[in-house]
Amino acid sequence: MVGLLFLILSLLKSVLCEWSTYADNTTEVLDKLLTNYRKEFRPGLGGKPLVIETDMMIRSIGQISESNMDYSFQCYFRQRWTDERLKFKIHNITEVTLNNLFLSLIWKPNTYFLNGQKSHQHNIPRPNLFVRIRNDGRVYLSRRLTVKAACPMRLGLYPMDKPVCPLVLGSYGYTTDDVLYMWKYGNNVSVELMKDVRLAQFDTIDVTTSNNTETTPFGEFSILKVYIYFERRIGFFILQIYLPCSMITCLSWVSFWINRDAAPARVLLGVTTILATAGIGMTVREGLPRVSYATALDTYLNVCIVYEMAAMIEYAAVNYFTKVLPLEGGADSDEEAEAGPQAGKPPDTEAQGVLHQTESHDNGSTEKPTISTQCAKTSFKLRTVDSCRKNRRRRRTRFGAMLLYCLTGDLKYRSALRGKGNAQAGNAVSDIDVWCRYVFPGTFLLFNISYWISYLFIF
Ligand SMILES: *[C@@H]1O[C@H](CO)[C@@H](O)[C@H](O)[C@H]1NC(C)=O
Ligand SMILES: *[C@@H]1O[C@H](CO)[C@@H](O)[C@H](O)[C@H]1NC(C)=O
Ligand SMILES: *[C@@H]1O[C@H](CO)[C@@H](O)[C@H](O)[C@H]1NC(C)=O
Ligand SMILES: *[C@@H]1O[C@H](CO)[C@@H](O)[C@H](O)[C@H]1NC(C)=O
Repeated sequence: MVGLLFLILSLLKSVLCEWSTYADNTTEVLDKLLTNYRKEFRPGLGGKPLVIETDMMIRSIGQISESNMDYSFQCYFRQRWTDERLKFKIHNITEVTLNNLFLSLIWKPNTYFLNGQKSHQHNIPRPNLFVRIRNDGRVYLSRRLTVKAACPMRLGLYPMDKPVCPLVLGSYGYTTDDVLYMWKYGNNVSVELMKDVRLAQFDTIDVTTSNNTETTPFGEFSILKVYIYFERRIGFFILQIYLPCSMITCLSWVSFWINRDAAPARVLLGVTTILATAGIGMTVREGLPRVSYATALDTYLNVCIVYEMAAMIEYAAVNYFTKVLPLEGGADSDEEAEAGPQAGKPPDTEAQGVLHQTESHDNGSTEKPTISTQCAKTSFKLRTVDSCRKNRRRRRTRFGAMLLYCLTGDLKYRSALRGKGNAQAGNAVSDIDVWCRYVFPGTFLLFNISYWISYLFIF
């Protein structure tokens, strides 16, 4: 029993001794290494430039901010170089891993991020770095960093844009005569994205790298570039902006089906839809910088607002041109009948045409439904068809004047229209409305088709 215990103790002692001799030898070796070491000088001073092999593993990508035009990510940043002064020889040991204290004793490249903004190394609970030296003087330094870098974006295609965020790194001070940066595994593969890198709003589609030299007045510097390609996910914008906006625009067309007498209903509908769209636009632009050009989203929102405004203006036109109540005992003389018909024309010219046209809506086909019958009727009353034609031509030339009257809100013209009114016409469906029921949805559909095709496939 005692013998066994003794055996265990002696074994333990020999193991501990070996460890201590290893540690002793390593301490001794490192001490010896650093006695004549000047960390101010780069390895191989005066000789060939020192090559620093770099690679990165991106663990996660944080916020990509349009308003600040920057992005951040967390990565393992690794650099390797050879320092002949750090060669050592310890029996059975080829590589020693050391911590940040050792790092402060040796030379290291002063790499910095040219477009970095507020990067930091993680120090919790202890500095997240290690340095590993091999017996042939090879040094391997790995740090865990959070890098925040500028990412200039052109937002003209927002939210269909594909931001490309660069990261440029190089030496702060050492020119190409002293230090050269290289990608460890060649271009394209030296920067790796962790498989589980996920972003809420973006897909990361690619990472490319390149090595360059940058010429400045102070000399040539070796720099490395990383480009991270993102693609914005459009789903959020479809659900939160495009769909609501187009639905609100559709809602504004309901006005065309509401009786023209219901002024409060139609005006309120128009104003509400404009305000709703403007509100959506405001919340959308909150996260965007105040760029001086229109983004794709702005274009869409503005077109929606224009449609809603047009719907309101259309009501004003309906109101002005056609909602003319007759004077007491409204005259319906031949003279006015002659001046009336104009239904085949676009709605702007239909001051009186509408009245007659809408009569046909109201009373079925019994009374003067179209121009031709109107003309035919007038010719029945021993008027020549010729005079009817002449009238129509005159009306066409008067269209400009009508528009002017309308814009200036000329009351005299309006009261002139009034005489020609008809008791039922005031309540009937306006031709402008009928026309707009097709034109508004049709053109909006066309706009949508061309918008999506051009932004998704052409630009
Ligand atoms: C430690 O170094 C001494 C000589 O410097 C050597 O004899 C000994 O074997 C070394 N021990 C180990 C464990 O390498
Ligand atoms: C040194 O390494 C060799 C194999 O690499 C091994 O056989 C030997 O036991 C090691 N010596 C010590 C003292 O650990
Ligand atoms: C890197 O990618 C580019 C384009 O994708 C290709 O032309 C080039 O050959 C690649 N380089 C390496 C080293 O794979
Ligand atoms: C880029 O790196 C390659 C080796 O990977 C090297 O041959 C080439 O000269 C470098 N280019 C520049 C501009 O430094």
